[in-house]
Amino acid sequence: MTHRPFQPSVDYPPLARLLSAAGPKAVTPAELRAQDAQLPPTGSLFAGPDGLLTGFGRIRLVEPGPDGELAAFATAWRAPWTPPGDIASLVVGTKDLAPDRLLPLMDALERWARGAGARRLLGELAQGHAELLRLAIARGHRIDAHIRTATARLDTLPPAVPPPGIRLGTLATTSAPQPALQLYRLYRETLRDNPGFVDALPDFDHWYAEAVAGEGCRPDWMFTAECAGRIVGVSTARATRDPRTCHIDYTGVLRPWRGRGLARSLKLHAARRLAGHGVRTVHTEVEAGNAPMVAVNSALGYRWGPGHHRLVKQL
Ligand SMILES: CC(C)(COP(=O)(O)OP(=O)(O)OC[C@H]1O[C@@H](n2cnc3c(N)ncnc32)[C@H](O)[C@@H]1OP(=O)(O)O)[C@@H](O)C(=O)NCCC(=O)NCCS
Repeated sequence: MTHRPFQPSVDYPPLARLLSAAGPKAVTPAELRAQDAQLPPTGSLFAGPDGLLTGFGRIRLVEPGPDGELAAFATAWRAPWTPPGDIASLVVGTKDLAPDRLLPLMDALERWARGAGARRLLGELAQGHAELLRLAIARGHRIDAHIRTATARLDTLPPAVPPPGIRLGTLATTSAPQPALQLYRLYRETLRDNPGFVDALPDFDHWYAEAVAGEGCRPDWMFTAECAGRIVGVSTARATRDPRTCHIDYTGVLRPWRGRGLARSLKLHAARRLAGHGVRTVHTEVEAGNAPMVAVNSALGYRWGPGHHRLVKQL
């Protein structure tokens, strides 16, 4: 076992290179440092009144490579809003690293999670790592979801035609009362029906900081469908470092308004506005079993990519 704890004084640059090579988008050392600066320096993990693990905390481990780069990175964490009893985890290696070299890191995360008192260890694995997936399943992990990526070009899409009585706008322009609070409640109602959602919704302030004021978010990119002052649907986009590309974060429609083409209208409305801001391509992620969202994206000409598997291990 050659792994060691992450050292902030030296590991940010090689970690940024490792994550940029392995992940869907490039990250810089400064971005990683800034994300970490927002977290409390020490964790506080404890059993709640129901006996389930609560609070927050994390572990970060690295496996140094022979050349001063990192061969692998592994982290496990609980945020205050992670469901009670759960700990999330991520293990990333260079593409040349043999899958079984990641097993000691996976085991170290699991030991930490057990020691903290977690009941479930959650993880994710990019598609295309068949051998590592096999090894993880042999160690007791099960596939909980298959999250697929999808990409669309905006220049080929028709204009939105909202159903009668529905006004399309944005969080920046809506005259609906308490629009941010309405959106929070809409997320809370609709996320329950999203098979791709595993976390619990944070409280309003944390949700606002991440979903409305978070990196890449803009009120005029939170597209709303409104009926008589009530926000009944949303589709939100997040800027990336490439101004021609953005990420569609979330689309949700309240149950009574579903099946009328609202999600489709919202996405077309968003596409038109985003194209007006110079965006050419949008990316999104959908759970493979989310039939309505898969249907909406497929009908709009999204091209499907591989994505990742979400794994769960009962501890
Ligand atoms: C996904 C969601 C936004 C769709 O909203 P909506 O306004 O009902 O969507 P639309 O009416 O525009 O389109 C739904 C499409 O799905 C199809 N559909 C619905 N259920 C389906 C099913 N079980 N199998 C296949 N297609 C289905 C409909 O036929 C329709 O396609 P059509 O217009 O070609 O007939 C809504 O169901 C929702 O809020 N779900 C929970 C949140 C969520 O999962 N969001 C996605 C996060 S990635």
